[in-house]
Amino acid sequence: MSEEIGTSSRKQDHLRICVEKQVEAGFSGFSDVRLVHAALPECSLGEVDTGAWFLNHRFASPLFIAAMTGGHRDALPINRNLAAAAEKNGIGMGVGSQRAALENPDLEDSFTVVREAAPRAFLCANLGVVQLRDHGIEWAERAVEMIDAQAICIHANFLQEAVMPGGDHDARGCLAALAGLCREFETPVILKETGAGISREAAGRLWAAGVAAIDLGGLGGTSWARVECLRSPDTPEAHIGSRFSDWGIPTVVSLAEVAGTGPVIATGGVRSGLDMAKALALGADLCGMALPLLAPAMESEEAVMHAIEGFTRELGVAMFLSGAGTVKAMRKVRTYITGTTRQMMKKRQEIPNGN
Ligand SMILES: Cc1cc2nc3c(=O)[nH]c(=O)nc-3n(C[C@H](O)[C@H](O)[C@H](O)COP(=O)(O)O)c2cc1C
Repeated sequence: MSEEIGTSSRKQDHLRICVEKQVEAGFSGFSDVRLVHAALPECSLGEVDTGAWFLNHRFASPLFIAAMTGGHRDALPINRNLAAAAEKNGIGMGVGSQRAALENPDLEDSFTVVREAAPRAFLCANLGVVQLRDHGIEWAERAVEMIDAQAICIHANFLQEAVMPGGDHDARGCLAALAGLCREFETPVILKETGAGISREAAGRLWAAGVAAIDLGGLGGTSWARVECLRSPDTPEAHIGSRFSDWGIPTVVSLAEVAGTGPVIATGGVRSGLDMAKALALGADLCGMALPLLAPAMESEEAVMHAIEGFTRELGVAMFLSGAGTVKAMRKVRTYITGTTRQMMKKRQEIPNGN
């Protein structure tokens, strides 16, 4: 199988598995977080302002549609539905890895449809850090141009690569490639994990490399170890995949480690507007969701609109009951943190320079 056919059909398998099977694993930590209730909120639910700022852009809601797809025929209507809903709701969106279309330009339309459906929306291009290292800045430029993107997400997915047959097992040189891109590129660069989280130490290296923002993509939502295990159940790698399906830093713990160090998107197991409010209170700038929007996107633009509006309404209620009329105020709301999440956060504070 040629490389581009391989990439494209693997992406189709991923979509099918993600809608048909149970692909979530691990613990995000959101159930360990409670927002402090405001008995007298002193704001009006109808006037709660969910508007958020990120990389000098104003969004109507901090909900960000995290990267999912592109590069095969099935992806075109999905991306069109997501993008049209993003445009109408004034929110941002990332496309899936553009590798397949960079290898085979005939597949570009499943990405370019996003800009056609969302002429004004904040869009993020997407490329793997290994492809960046191996193909250089030219691929990043082409990815951004393809959708006229405002930013590029460079994704790190070494957990997935380690447990999938034929994965990229050599991560050497990726940080230098990222730093080179940040130096030479005018478009903001976001480093994005895909389900295993970012530690405080990793964040420090990323800021030093020059990234504009981090999408911490923590544990507790879609598990790529699990998806790969389901895709190739009869391989030796499948055993490793199941062993490592809850490997990683839970989203809430990762957020506690990274918040306050620079612009952050909290992704990984965000499943409601209430989770979004919790993430904001813990310091997130935007909240990414992928899996909850996939089935609606396969259905219609209206289904995506309905899902987004529902999450935004929930966020508004959580903000109101926390006494926060704005996202800025929500980011100052106090939280109670219990259980494993509290223990992990405490452990981290006890060892300031530890891993
Ligand atoms: C079907 C599907 C495909 C994905 N493809 C990509 C991708 O191509 N590039 C990427 O950076 N992340 C990709 N992701 C990861 C998501 O952007 C996100 O980081 C992860 O799924 C965690 O969010 P969730 O728990 O809300 O799904 C994909 C997720 C899903 C569900």
